[in-house]
Amino acid sequence: MFDQGEILDESKVSVSIRNKALNYGLGCFEGIRAFWNDSQNQLYIFRIYDHYKRFHESGNALHIPIPYTSMKLIPWTLQLLRKNNVREDVYIRPICFKGANTLRPNLLDQYNRVSIYCTQLTYMPKPAIKVCVSSWTRSGNNMIPPQAKSTGNYLNSGLASSEARLNGFDEAIFITDRGNVSEGTGENIFIVKNNKLITPPLSDHLLAGITRDTVMQIAKNELQLPVLEQSIARTELYSADEVFFTGTAIGIKAIINIDHRMIGNGSEGTITRNIRFLYENIARGNNPKYFGFCTPVY
Ligand SMILES: Cc1ncc(COP(=O)(O)O)c(C=O)c1O
Repeated sequence: MFDQGEILDESKVSVSIRNKALNYGLGCFEGIRAFWNDSQNQLYIFRIYDHYKRFHESGNALHIPIPYTSMKLIPWTLQLLRKNNVREDVYIRPICFKGANTLRPNLLDQYNRVSIYCTQLTYMPKPAIKVCVSSWTRSGNNMIPPQAKSTGNYLNSGLASSEARLNGFDEAIFITDRGNVSEGTGENIFIVKNNKLITPPLSDHLLAGITRDTVMQIAKNELQLPVLEQSIARTELYSADEVFFTGTAIGIKAIINIDHRMIGNGSEGTITRNIRFLYENIARGNNPKYFGFCTPVY
């Protein structure tokens, strides 16, 4: 893994039990995927510049300034993948956290540690999922801001996803304190209604997902679908023609049942499938029009 600008064996990297990021959740991170393209014998990292841009924006919002520029972090990430000779799909996790071991959840000390590691990740293998609206409210933009990808905010996600699993669902959908649909615990959400794609605006307490942005571009440019960013009420979920999650970890995932109501005909809808095919093809480096999103490792 990369730790503080050095490639090290993971066993040589440690964090004290007193570390304040561990004790108080004072960190931010990214989740990036690289896709192996067999026919090109190449590994492509998807939208790495945008992920590191968001990493810096998260750090800036949280008083955890990332001590290295993207111009350093990107070559280090490439180096890490080459060093591990990765020739399969892989998930990359850069993380920056408060390095001090002091007993105060203050963000102003300057020791911000950065590590990058990679791992295989099968997130949710089912082709389509059943979800519930969570009894937990999404933490708001003025609480733990969801637009910063902070470690601490994943307690909110953890509560909702655990509750969903315990109640027999695959995942949860958060609503906001105003009752609008927000996002999943690690995914953005879209509905299809009358051949329009609708997703909640950032003001409904969600992360500005990079897959979300990709899907909006694909829908407009490749499928000529109108795309609206507008608040969605809970009951609009139940009457949608199609609903799906988007995210680096999950990809594009059809939601076929919400709170025991069947969505559409209970299987992946046509628009979801078309968007998924386009996205998977683009991310794997098979669509020349979108090569700009794909950074080759070798
Ligand atoms: C809370 C949350 N929302 C949405 C997303 C989707 O974002 P992206 O598409 O950039 O992975 C993620 C994943 O990072 C997330 O953790």
